[in-house]
Amino acid sequence: MTGEVAIRVRDVSHHFGEEDDARHVRALLDTSIDVARGELLCLIGPSGCGKSTLLNVVGGLLEPTTGTVEVAGKPVRGPMPADIAYVFQENALFPWNTVFENVMLGMLFQGVPKAERDDRARRSLEAVGLAEFSDHYPAQLSGGMRQRAALARALSLETGILLMDEPFGALDEQTRMILGEDLSVLLSRTDKAIVFVTHSLGEAVFLADRVAVFSARPGTIKQVISVDEPHPRNPEFVTSAKFTALRNQLYSLLHDEIRKAMSESAMRGGAGHRGSVAGDSA
Ligand SMILES: Nc1ncnc2c1ncn2[C@@H]1O[C@H](COP(=O)(O)OP(=O)(O)O)[C@@H](O)[C@H]1O
Ligand SMILES: [Mg+2]
Repeated sequence: MTGEVAIRVRDVSHHFGEEDDARHVRALLDTSIDVARGELLCLIGPSGCGKSTLLNVVGGLLEPTTGTVEVAGKPVRGPMPADIAYVFQENALFPWNTVFENVMLGMLFQGVPKAERDDRARRSLEAVGLAEFSDHYPAQLSGGMRQRAALARALSLETGILLMDEPFGALDEQTRMILGEDLSVLLSRTDKAIVFVTHSLGEAVFLADRVAVFSARPGTIKQVISVDEPHPRNPEFVTSAKFTALRNQLYSLLHDEIRKAMSESAMRGGAGHRGSVAGDSA
């Protein structure tokens, strides 16, 4: 990693519930990572290994059981709306508001003055290619367009940090690919630090500057792989030998962990977590 550190995670562990409770879960174990400004870090790992937990700890939505997180040089002790914006898988747009109003609302909660809100909403909708759909309601948009709207809302907040939890996870493969390409263009123009959770190996290699591979629960970062390729990434990158080699490397790292996660889950007699990496193309 090069550049100024935007997010510093040190020895973070997180447990849900009390030690002596049967429902006690060790979700995250002794995890440390830095994310630089201008860098996109992908988190990939078996389902239930603590990726969302780490994201929520970084975002100040969960207090870690042990360890520390610093964002922009400040210790995280709760939500930091001036520094951190979120995009979730299930878009959190208000159905009764238009796309434009939805973007405006995010800034209203952040306390941005009206005139500036207007200007930023226009610019961020432009940036994600939704300017013409400003007056549409979420129900009138495709899933991909709704995720673009959610991204526009996050961009309009002009935070240094963007946390994205499987933002394209509910979309079909083609839509996902196009959104990935467009995000790579946005990345080339920003110095935000982005943490992006995905279960798609191809998406991770295409978008990430580095990919952190998690171990099975209790999750911790098992290995970090660099993808040394400037943004915006060319769509042809997907067909290159370099891309394939990185994807294969991720596949074998992940495959071992998914097996471990599934056998652990079977031993507990649980229904098990979805652990498939098959059917995952670019
Ligand atoms: N609020 C919660 N209470 C209890 N257990 C939880 C809670 N949230 C997550 N977990 C458990 O913690 C583990 C990690 O969850 P999560 O971070 O959501 O995994 P991932 O995002 O990698 O799929 C899982 O076993 C999950 O069931
Ligand atoms: Mg998750």
